Amino acid sequence: MVRRGIRVVVRCKRQQLTVEDGLYTHWIVDSFGGVRMTVISVVNMKGGVAKTTLATNLADTLVRRHQCKVLLVDLDPQFNATQCLISPEKYVKARSAGQPTIVNIFDDAPMAVSAVGGAKSQAPLVLKDIKPWKIKENFDLVPGDLELYRLEMGGGQGREQRLKRYLEAIGADEKYDFVIIDTPPTPSHWMMAALLASDGYIVPVKPEPLSRTGIDLLRGVVERFSQNYGHPIECIGVVLTIVETNTLVYREAVDFLDKNPVWAGKRYAASLPKRVKLARAQGNQALIFDLDDSDLKRGIAGIAKEFTERADG
Ligand SMILES: Nc1ncnc2c1ncn2[C@@H]1O[C@H](COP(=O)(O)OP(=O)(O)OP(=O)(O)O)[C@@H](O)[C@H]1O
Ligand SMILES: [Mg+2]
Repeated sequence: MVRRGIRVVVRCKRQQLTVEDGLYTHWIVDSFGGVRMTVISVVNMKGGVAKTTLATNLADTLVRRHQCKVLLVDLDPQFNATQCLISPEKYVKARSAGQPTIVNIFDDAPMAVSAVGGAKSQAPLVLKDIKPWKIKENFDLVPGDLELYRLEMGGGQGREQRLKRYLEAIGADEKYDFVIIDTPPTPSHWMMAALLASDGYIVPVKPEPLSRTGIDLLRGVVERFSQNYGHPIECIGVVLTIVETNTLVYREAVDFLDKNPVWAGKRYAASLPKRVKLARAQGNQALIFDLDDSDLKRGIAGIAKEFTERADG
C-alpha cells in the first residue's frame, strides 16, 4: 500500500524503499509491524558440524549486511554460541548481576540456583520480563546456561512449549526480523522446544562420510516431531561447512545431497571454507566479519543472502 503525501514507512527487512512521483515521496508501508518474526533453528544430530559457527555468524551477517534485527537463542547446554559472543568475565559479571538466561525461560519452579556466579532466581520470571542481552545494535542474545544440564524437563508439563510462548510474548514489543536458535546435537527436549518455536530449520553439514548418517537421522526426528506435534516445519536449506573444495569427501557430499530425493534442491551454493583461524578466533569472541579472510566473508555473505531469499520466499 502506498499513500500519497503521507510519510508511510515500509520496513522490508528494515530497508526503506522510496518511490518518487514528482510531487510526493512515497515511503513503503509499515506492514512489517503486524507480521510475525521468522524463527529458524540450526539443527543437525551430528556434533561438531559448525551449527554454532553458522548460527552466530549468520545472525551477525543478517545484522551487518541485511539491516535485520536479530535475536539469537542459545539452546545448547554447552552454551558455545554464548561463549562465541561474550567473554567469560562479562558473562559471569552479568549472571552475578542477575541477568536472565535461557534457563529462566524453562524454569517455572522457584529457587533455581545457577552454576555460574551463584545467582539465584527466587521465583520464576514472567516470560515477557526475561530480557535478552544486547550484543550490539540490532543483535540480541538469549544466552545459554550450563544449568540446562540439571534442569529436568519432564514430558507433559508443557515446558517444551515455553520457548514458543516466550518468543510470542517478547515479539509484541521487540520487532525482530529473525530469531535464530542454536541447538544441541542430540534429539533432546531442548531440540523439541526449538522446533516447536520455529517456522523452519537450516542444516549445516560437514563434508565427511559420517555426515550422511547425521542428516538421515535428523530427517527421521523432524518427521516424527511434525507428526507428533502437528507442527509443520520447513527445511530452508542445507549448508556445507568446514569445506575443502579440492577434496573427494567434499565432492561426494555435494553429490549425495544433490541426488538424494529428500535434500535435492536444499543445498546452498555458498559454503563455509575450512579455516583454522576461525576456530581460534572464536575463543576471543571474533566473528567472520572481524577476520581478514575474504573467502570466509564471501561464504557467510552468500549463505545469508540465500537464507533471506528462502526464508522470505
Ligand atoms: N570453517 C571452519 N574452519 C575450521 N574450523 C571450524 C570452522 N567452523 C567451525 N570450526 C570449528 O569446528 C568446531 C565445531 O564447530 P561448532 O562448535 O560450530 O560445531 P557444532 O555443530 O555447533 O558443535 P556441537 O555439536 O558440539 O554443538 C569448533 O572448534 C569450531 O571452531
Ligand atoms: Mg554447537
